[in-house]
Amino acid sequence: MSESSNIESTLSEDRHFPPPAEFAQQAHLKSVDGYKALHKRSIEDPEGFWTEEASNQYWFKPWDKVLEWNAPDAKWFVGGKANLCYNAVDRQVSEGHGDATAIIWEAEPMDERGEPIVTKLTYHDLMVETAKFANALKAKGVKQGDVVTIYMGMVPELAIATLACARIGAVHSVIFGGFSSQAIKDRVEDGDSKIIITCDGSYRRGKVVPLKDNVDEAAAQTDLVDTVIVYQRCNNDIAWTEGRDVWWRDAMNAVDDHCPCEEMDSEDLAFILYTSGSTGKPKGIMHTTGGYMVWAAMTSRLTFDLHAGDESEVYWCTADIGWITGHTYILYGILPNRVPTIMYEGAPNHPAPDRLWDMVERHKVTKFYTAPTAIRAFMKWGDEHPRKHNLSSLKVLGTVGEPINPEAWMWYHNEIGGGNCPIADTWWQTETGGHMLTPLPGVTTTTPGSCCQPMIGVDAAVVNSEGEEVGTNEGGILVIRKPWPGMLRGIYGDRDRYIDTYWSKFPIEKGYYVPADGARVDENGNFWIMGRIDDVIVVAGHNIGTMEVESTLVAEGTIAEAAVVGYPHDVKGNGIAAFCIPKGDTPAPGSDEAAALKKQLTAYCAKEMGAICKPDQIRFTQALPKTRSGKIMRRLLRDIAAGKEITSDVSTLEDKSIVEKLQASE
Ligand code: WTA
Repeated sequence: MSESSNIESTLSEDRHFPPPAEFAQQAHLKSVDGYKALHKRSIEDPEGFWTEEASNQYWFKPWDKVLEWNAPDAKWFVGGKANLCYNAVDRQVSEGHGDATAIIWEAEPMDERGEPIVTKLTYHDLMVETAKFANALKAKGVKQGDVVTIYMGMVPELAIATLACARIGAVHSVIFGGFSSQAIKDRVEDGDSKIIITCDGSYRRGKVVPLKDNVDEAAAQTDLVDTVIVYQRCNNDIAWTEGRDVWWRDAMNAVDDHCPCEEMDSEDLAFILYTSGSTGKPKGIMHTTGGYMVWAAMTSRLTFDLHAGDESEVYWCTADIGWITGHTYILYGILPNRVPTIMYEGAPNHPAPDRLWDMVERHKVTKFYTAPTAIRAFMKWGDEHPRKHNLSSLKVLGTVGEPINPEAWMWYHNEIGGGNCPIADTWWQTETGGHMLTPLPGVTTTTPGSCCQPMIGVDAAVVNSEGEEVGTNEGGILVIRKPWPGMLRGIYGDRDRYIDTYWSKFPIEKGYYVPADGARVDENGNFWIMGRIDDVIVVAGHNIGTMEVESTLVAEGTIAEAAVVGYPHDVKGNGIAAFCIPKGDTPAPGSDEAAALKKQLTAYCAKEMGAICKPDQIRFTQALPKTRSGKIMRRLLRDIAAGKEITSDVSTLEDKSIVEKLQASE
């Protein structure tokens, strides 16, 4: 952390924002005492607490036992039968709310008259469409437990395809549409998935992203894929493989809309979602049915203070469904709370930098959830854009994915929230299924930069390497000491990696889940996340494993060895810096050869891993700073990438002259 940001965070701890009075009257949780009492009960009497909480969701058959815990294996709501799609969609219809709006979709392009294109789906529409698509999947031979790969743009059909899988108990594996063919191939193979649902293309900043081409490329590299269902969105030219490819509309026209939801066992696998780790290929995080259903719905209700049936509620999470944020906080947590959820197709600055604010005004959005990276970009684009719009409908603002710097927090608070909206800085992970640390709108006095306090049901602590709690404001390792319903159940196909990654830092009997974030707790009991303690870099809210980028750089062919580190970046939070040793001559800094090679490597990374994974800085060097035991000194590289003075101890370096050479390598 730089000196200036230290000053900033010290200052910000003096700034406190109590919950606005209106929440004290109507919020689900209205007072600190109420929160504390409920939190205590959820930890001390999980049976009693979760019996009540889980009853808010729909079960075909109630559970016999709330929890079976043999660290690191949890079984929640054992013996219960439920279905994520039924609870999100059909249930609303059977309870008489079929006409209520479920999804409000807005296209990126405007119509011929320059007006926005908006489609609304009621719960009834969504039920009919998911039932039909579920039948289309069945007609293609998809059965309960099969992994269905979904790689689409943000169109309603993405929600439909996802929910349709849940409907029949197929396991969805959604891949963010910004990823490349390599990512698709890896995930298809890891999940042994024979079917891919995609679009011809998707719109992004006025351009067409060729999704189907990427699928074709991926499918060509494996024998697994026998079916590709294609939703036609952009009308772009695509190649067609007879016998394998099917148009979405043809698949839909061939089936009826009668398809009851499967009664799934509470612990049946619901989906896998891949996230980067510090080593090796991305991990397929597994979430099961009952616990995730309860966790998604409860955390949505409490964090955003959602009120089913309140006609004024309009909720908008700007994430893509390809991330856990979209899974939980566009679909599975929001729909059961019967609040309209917005899906926006495109970029936040298309056609103009006020696109999101224009949408907030037109749709009268009450709850808005985005990422700190986006907020920093909005700040850069200028205050005039939000100021053009009436944002007074907003009531709660959320952020997710990375720490929010106090400056961005204050801007969000003042410029977007008009100084009246509580901000929920939500800390959680793909693995946790839903919010773990967050302010609650009717309860928490917030402090810019802190994700405040544990969610109901979460026993969080900051400990030292012995597992003992550290003192106030002392940095340490964040741990979750008790299981919670939305926790991951494993890594798909890799039990050892599951144990090794999350449960091996402390004796397993202790049952401490280790998210690999550093943290501290201040004198008010508020948590502050201090960054990753493993080799994952959080770039623009996305996890990127340094190893993955290193292997890709080397795979390109011109580089013999690469070391990748993160460094502070104004907009993205962290940038990616790559130190590369070329196989041939090392091009001089600033030379045309260096520029050309950088371009070549960047383009390769973008193609292989997707644009979000490409390095922001590439430096060429003849050697990397290694200790005598051969370990790359990453801390030193981080300082160099950040352009900081070297404060690391370099006495163990094998070749000390390397430091100067590296500093001059930009
Ligand atoms: C980081 C996203 C600070 C953290 C839901 C975590 C955060 C990783 C915050 C998970 C936050 C997420 N403050 N850091 N509010 N939210 N992170 O799996 O390092 O994409 O471990 O889940 O992002 O990223 P993931």
